[in-house]
Amino acid sequence: MRTKINNYEMAYEDKGSGLPVLFIHGYPLNRSLWQPQVEGLSNSGRILAPDLRGHGDSQPTNGPYSMDLLAADCVALLDSLELRAPVIVCGLSMGGYIALALYRNYPERLSGLILAATRAGADSAEGKKNRDQTANLAKEKGVEAVVESMLPKMMSPKTYQQNSELVDRIRKIMEATSLEGVLGDLMGMKERPDSRSLLETIDIPTLVIHGADDQIISTEETRQMYAQIPGAVLETVPDAGHLLNLEQPEIFNQAIRRFIQPL
Ligand code: MLT
Repeated sequence: MRTKINNYEMAYEDKGSGLPVLFIHGYPLNRSLWQPQVEGLSNSGRILAPDLRGHGDSQPTNGPYSMDLLAADCVALLDSLELRAPVIVCGLSMGGYIALALYRNYPERLSGLILAATRAGADSAEGKKNRDQTANLAKEKGVEAVVESMLPKMMSPKTYQQNSELVDRIRKIMEATSLEGVLGDLMGMKERPDSRSLLETIDIPTLVIHGADDQIISTEETRQMYAQIPGAVLETVPDAGHLLNLEQPEIFNQAIRRFIQPL
């Protein structure tokens, strides 16, 4: 489906009925990241999954794409669907940075928060330098070169050994990101604020979920974030890396069901 919001056309998935759950993908991905959730959870709620601007089938715009801008796009999607009551928001990695921006800027729109393979801190000085280097690589050699450098870190060692089909699928999803999308995300993530002080103010049910073998966000960092959120639930998915929802879809979906059913 498509909707015109904030001066561009956004593509999104909308399947199921009842409790709305908004799934926000990471960088440099798109809504097909959530295919096992759209299929597997749409009998438990209304699954919404946008392509962020410049990703998948959504039109690109010039960056930077601040996390606040991308959060505003998500709210515009909810508005366009006339969903004014609070929804559950699930963000993976950069999607988690956006979920935290949503909580900071529009707390009244959220009834639950799922933080998947993400972190609350800002980029370090070295991290910011890496963003610039990656942006230069994208400009000089294209999105494929960025994908080539990132792909070996996206999943768990076991997934690379046993599921080459999934690895190929992820490569294609990543390669479908526009150059504007890659650059917009990189510059937006580079400037994102430190959200660590927000964590102790979160007063809605929160699930922190991560892959035991995540090569991008460590278990230690995840535990620190979880420990600061009052009443949060922590789930660790075995044999899964950064893209845990695709690597172990059944375990991931069960954890989401357990979390959303009482809400
Ligand atoms: C993501 O998966 O969204 C990215 O790895 C996040 C990041 O680069 O900080």
